[in-house]
Amino acid sequence: MPGFLRLLILCVFATLAVAPSGAGADVIDPHQLYEQRCGNCHEPHAGDFVHDNLVLSDGEVLGRKTGRELRAFLDAGHGNLIADEIASMVAHLTSIQQSGRLFRDKCIICHDRAVELARHHLIITDGELVGRYSKRNIERFLSGHGRLTDDEVPRMVDVLKRQLKTREEK
Ligand code: HEC
Ligand code: HEC
Repeated sequence: MPGFLRLLILCVFATLAVAPSGAGADVIDPHQLYEQRCGNCHEPHAGDFVHDNLVLSDGEVLGRKTGRELRAFLDAGHGNLIADEIASMVAHLTSIQQSGRLFRDKCIICHDRAVELARHHLIITDGELVGRYSKRNIERFLSGHGRLTDDEVPRMVDVLKRQLKTREEK
């Protein structure tokens, strides 16, 4: 083998060896975190867990039965999470809680439950939410529909997507 070729191969191997494996592995994915650390004892999906167990009261997310504030409850050691994971989990569950409310406030008057709307009318194509029959891009559609604010649109899209993903897993 010519020397330069051997050198080239060596370089490639060296690069592979030092390349960071799983770049961004330290970014917490709250979906996964929920499934791995809470879903064994609680509902397998965070959306169902929120719906069944959490309530929103004066802007605080509380356990339905215990009445305890979510963050304080996790800070006290429930679920065994470290501080960063608690922050991520609380943000995640709070956002699900608020989105459910958002749908009740702004959409339910004309549509079924979010899960029915999603399953009957929507599909995911190449990661994008689109109308099953209309073929329209729903994120774009929602910025002119249902009186959502700019930051509510992506949240709503996430909620509707989640409804479809939940079904695929079942
Ligand atoms: C080893 C089992 C277990 C794990 C793991 C677990 N929990 Fe729990 N959790 C429980 C039990 C048992 C209760 C009390 C249930 C009851 O009284 O209905 C509870 C209660 C709660 C409550 C209060 C519910 C209410 O109605 O007041 C919240 C909130 C909660 N868990 C969140 C979490 C989160 C978030 C995680 C993941 C980080 C988690 N739990 C992991 C077993 C677990
Ligand atoms: C005043 C009644 C009304 C309200 C409120 C409303 N919608 Fe609609 N929505 C409709 C009607 C009617 C259609 C069908 C119109 C069309 O296809 O052009 C529709 C269509 C849709 C579609 C498209 C389905 C497809 O097949 O392309 C989505 C997604 C949707 N709505 C979501 C929402 C969400 C999310 C909200 C709340 C933020 C909401 N809508 C609020 C009446 C409403």
